[in-house]
Amino acid sequence: MTAPPQAINDPAHWDSLAERYADEADRLTRLYCEAAWQAVDLPQGARVLDVATGAGALLGIAVKGGADAIGIDFSPAMVGLAQERAAAIRPGNHAMVMDGQKLDFPDASFDAAFSMFGVFMFPDPIAGFAEIARVLRPGGLAVIAVWENAGGAGPAILFQEAARRLFPDRPIPTPMARLFNSPALLDQAFREVGLEPQTVHSVERPWPVQPVEWFRENAKLAFGWSPLWRDLDEQQRTAFSEEAAALAMKLPPEGIRSTAFIGMARKPA
Ligand SMILES: C[S@@+](CC[C@H](N)C(=O)[O-])C[C@H]1O[C@@H](n2cnc3c(N)ncnc32)[C@H](O)[C@@H]1O
Repeated sequence: MTAPPQAINDPAHWDSLAERYADEADRLTRLYCEAAWQAVDLPQGARVLDVATGAGALLGIAVKGGADAIGIDFSPAMVGLAQERAAAIRPGNHAMVMDGQKLDFPDASFDAAFSMFGVFMFPDPIAGFAEIARVLRPGGLAVIAVWENAGGAGPAILFQEAARRLFPDRPIPTPMARLFNSPALLDQAFREVGLEPQTVHSVERPWPVQPVEWFRENAKLAFGWSPLWRDLDEQQRTAFSEEAAALAMKLPPEGIRSTAFIGMARKPA
């Protein structure tokens, strides 16, 4: 199934957010990348692919862990940041611009392929799963992370709640072509592309509350992926940020706890 055009499927959207993503969102996703890396047991020098690497959270952890790792992303700005960060850990070419739905790697090139909060947002997510299956060697491991909440994680959840309060008559459509936000749905997608589901880890981590200013500066980062955001004017966007900030002030200091499902599956040997 293919979804209509969405901001999340436009490399320019991610280019425009890359610096902010590296400074803010990546601090949250990194917590889950660390959990995913700890859950796998890969030997030194394992060939690892990170699909939709963003600012390279998982890529950097893999390089630090001794893997022969490469990250791909369709946003040149994200790739630039991922490359810079990974090369600071170990010099080399670690990141490339590429569409995750059509990987430019031969079959059976990798021992493990990750996609942390990546393939689930592709217009054709099953193409992303299938490409991961194709480039894995027989016996290789696929690791795919998605949010349990269809609206995302951390501040995105607050913005969703703010939208419900401010615009009670407006629907908040999901930009996703298909949802994978349960262990059963993840396993089903793995099976569709010929991978054998192994386990789905449920990982919960906190996003600490930020000052009001944070919500003004990062509204597009936290909610720009939503089709609703596109339809708001500047005044509405400002009111929206204030509402999200007001909600945040009522949270306990540890903030919002968000759950990711990290699914693991093997390519049949
Ligand atoms: C939510 S971010 C996740 C980034 C990173 N994996 C992390 O955990 O922080 C989603 C990333 O997917 C990338 N992306 C979206 N669609 C893509 C596609 N079709 N091919 C490659 N990358 C894509 C975006 O550029 C963005 O960097």
